Amino acid sequence: MSDRDVRIYEVGPRDGLQNESTPIETDEKLRFIELLAAAGLREIEATSFVSPKAIPQLADADELMARLERRPGVRYPVLVPNERGLERAEAAGADAVCVFTAASEPFTKANINMTIAESIDAFRPVIARARERGWWSRGYVSTAFGCPYQGEVGEAAVVGVAKELLSLGVDELSIGDTIGVAGPSDVRRVVSALLGAGIAPSQLSMHFHDTRGTALANVVAALELGIRTFDASTGGTGGCPYAPGAAGNLATEDLVYLLDREGLGHGVDLDALLVAARHISDTLSRPLGTKVGQAGGWQVP
Ligand code: HMG
Ligand code: MG
Repeated sequence: MSDRDVRIYEVGPRDGLQNESTPIETDEKLRFIELLAAAGLREIEATSFVSPKAIPQLADADELMARLERRPGVRYPVLVPNERGLERAEAAGADAVCVFTAASEPFTKANINMTIAESIDAFRPVIARARERGWWSRGYVSTAFGCPYQGEVGEAAVVGVAKELLSLGVDELSIGDTIGVAGPSDVRRVVSALLGAGIAPSQLSMHFHDTRGTALANVVAALELGIRTFDASTGGTGGCPYAPGAAGNLATEDLVYLLDREGLGHGVDLDALLVAARHISDTLSRPLGTKVGQAGGWQVP
């Protein structure tokens, strides 16, 4: 991958849907994933093998993964919080897993009912087994820019958790602005601290929720620091039931447009992506609220 190429890691089917209260048919989720792959996305986070009580919307994870028609060259990671999740994921045919913790204790407790240290201990056998099987893996560090319960989060806490996750052997980290409070200076502060701790830009993805409209500005700040992987959600949906006040993720279509204007490669066809975005807004019976979803690409006159 050249320095002019960006990886877009699609989280729409997982983060985008997990907070939706109206049950969505598995067929509609599978169609969404297929449209995303057809638009050129090569990493599509499909679902979560978590407690169905914690995230009812994704209670169909076993069926969804078993029925998913995998396209060659596309990775379909899933979230797993513990060994039980890994077993379910394996039985359903997954081969890429994400563990998830945070840089603040109260959010970690609310989200997965563990301390940060307990979460690392819980993930150790999960990542060990994933590695034995040759699976790809990722570790999420949520609340890296602010916590809904604690408030500000210092970069030292982010670096500490990031290093613990890397020591388990995950292939990459995703650094999350879970509630969408960061601005570009925060991104420079946190990412510089991670790089200063010896973590390579290629080991990092940035995961911005766009609650306050700063996500694209944050992407630009991260690009300037050499980050080339971004999480995004087609249709701009997203949020976590345990992160009150969080709104949707950075919309994939808004990211694609920005990357096009910056002359950066990403492999995604914007028109095809908008078909996927409209599919999910129709499924949710909501108008498509994203900027590029509304305006479309620029048809130069
Ligand atoms: P717990 O209650 O402490 O655990 O939950 P437990 O072991 O006592 O289990 C409770 C029940 O869940 C039991 O069932 C278990 O069998 C079951 P019961 O006896 O009550 O019938 N259970 C499971 N069932 C299916 N699959 C499993 C599983 N594990 C236990 N894997 C637990 C702890 C971690 C399980 C729970 O808190 C949980 O599932 N949390 C997930 C929360 C979640 O998915 N949050 C959203 C993802 S994180 C996010 O969105 C942020 C991110 O986008 C980045 C960012 O924005 O920053 C990634
Ligand atoms: Mg998220």
